[in-house]
Formats: sequence, C-alpha cells, structure tokens
Amino acid sequence: MAKRDLISVLDMKDEWPDLVDLSIKLKRERGSHNAPLEGKTLIMMFEKPSTRTRISFDVAITELGGHALYIDVSKMQMGHGETVEDTAKVMSRFAHGIMYRAYDYKMMDRIGEVATIPVISGLDNLEHPCQALADMVTIKEKKGSFRGRKLVYLGDGNNVCNSLLYASAIMGLDMIACCPATRMPNAEIMLGAARIADANGSRIIASHDPSEACKDADILYTDTWISMGDDTSEEKAMKLFKMYQINSELLSIAKKDCVVMHCLPAHRGQEISAEVMDGPQSIVFDQAENRLHAQKAVLYTLLR
Ligand code: CP
Ligand code: NVA
Repeated sequence: MAKRDLISVLDMKDEWPDLVDLSIKLKRERGSHNAPLEGKTLIMMFEKPSTRTRISFDVAITELGGHALYIDVSKMQMGHGETVEDTAKVMSRFAHGIMYRAYDYKMMDRIGEVATIPVISGLDNLEHPCQALADMVTIKEKKGSFRGRKLVYLGDGNNVCNSLLYASAIMGLDMIACCPATRMPNAEIMLGAARIADANGSRIIASHDPSEACKDADILYTDTWISMGDDTSEEKAMKLFKMYQINSELLSIAKKDCVVMHCLPAHRGQEISAEVMDGPQSIVFDQAENRLHAQKAVLYTLLR
C-alpha cells in the first residue's frame, strides 16, 4: 500500500471523524493497549522550538511500543548544504515515519514528495493538523457533538486557525475566523473550508468584530499574536490585535457554558487575559493532553 502523509488536514479528510473517535478510544484505553507499533521508529525533525509537539509525539510512539528520535535540523548535514531530497531518501531507509516542524510549508511538501515513509506535520507556516485533531477531540469530549456548535477563533489568522477551519468544516462545526483585515486566514484555505462546510450544512464565516462574533459562541479559541518566524514587533501586534484579546468581557458575550481553548504556548495579557486562561471556563490543559491521544491515533493509522 502507498504511504500516506498528514501535512494538511485535507490529507486525511475522509478519516477525520474516525481519527477523532480512535483518539478518544486510545485515551480511554491508555495503559492497557498492547504494542501495535513495536519495532517502529519515528524521526522527529525540528527547525523550530517545541514543548508539546516534541514530547507528546515521543510519549505517543513509546506507549504504542515504538521509538522516537529527536533531531534539531540545524545540526544535520541538511542544515549545512545536503539537499532535502537526499536527506528524505536516507531517512526513509532508516525509519518508519517522519514528523517534521518547518518554517515553510514548501519544505514539508518536498519531504513528503520524496520520502517513501509517512510524513506528519508538527506545524509549518500554513497548517498545524495534529493540533486541529486534538482540538476536535477536546470539543467532542466537552460538547458531545459538533453540529450546531459555534467556535469563534480570535486574533491572528495563522497556521492554527487555517487547520481549524478545515477541521471544523469537515466535522460540521460552525466557525467564525475573527481577525483584523490584514491578518485574515489563508484565502485559499478559507474558501476550501467554506466549500466543505457548505456540503456539510455547516458555516465558515469571516469577521472583524469580536463583540458581534462572540454572541452565542460555544467555544472561544485563540493563539499567539506573533507566530514563530513572524517578524511583527510586539508593539505593533499589541495595537493590531488588542480588541481581539479573550478576556472576561468578551467571554461574557458568549454562551454561559462557553469553553475557552488555546493551542499554547500562551501569552497572558496579550491574546488571553490571565483570569480567563486560568479561570473555570478554560480547557487548555485538557486540550494540550489530547495532543498525545490524537497523535497516537495518527501514528497508529499511518505507521502500522
Ligand atoms: N501547540 C504546540 O504545538 O506547542 P509546541 O510549540 O510546544 O509544540
Ligand atoms: N501559531 C503558533 C503556534 C505555536 C504552537 C506558531 O506557529 O508559532
């Protein structure tokens, strides 16, 4: 069977609902499953820093009986002149999967094209599919279903927002991307997600008005205002995104049982106020834990 990748949410579009269910099953069965990935090695290659992605992938494959190897790309020959293509071919001879965190999605695509083993994105400048899967798992756990639920993403229309758009559309969740006009999500992804949502009977909407967007929201979601590799100054970001901060005032506009999500790392006082981040409606640490269970489902599906 041909190898498959998870570089964009769309790569596993049809399996997304099954992946959500498998993640929840693997979470429930944690500690009691056998070793379905025994003898499998995952090479984890990072161009950028990471806490959650690195550790959750390592723990995930270890608990499934396999093994992970962490590589800082700048310390490889690839960081010193060897081609990406040669590197991907060599990796494919050693291991059973590659998890890659890239600055540029084009790098991810090049590796995916050449590697003969599955390539899983651990984030690039365009998407963060494993985060979106963990997010859908968290929403299913907390809200029970997707249909008729409304998620409002506030702030920078970045990689996390892009993958959330696809994932929401696939699962039938209504999503509003509420961002400044100059920082809207990728236009092609927004359009693609809206088409999927149309076919699914759900809605993908753009907004620049947080007070309007947050009315009746079931989920408020935010991420950093300055992503890794973005050279926007903190001063500029604070001005540009100020009104998009998730704070008590904005949360009071949403439904009483609205939950607050953040992919982390968080910057209290910027995209989220400390009282909301650490308050009773925040589910950010359950969300972070679900990276582990979601990635187990991905590894189980792609590496077996
Ligand atoms: N959310 C996320 O991907 O976190 P890390 O950058 O710590 O991996
Ligand atoms: N949008 C953020 C996500 C970090 C997990 C970034 O790309 O830096």
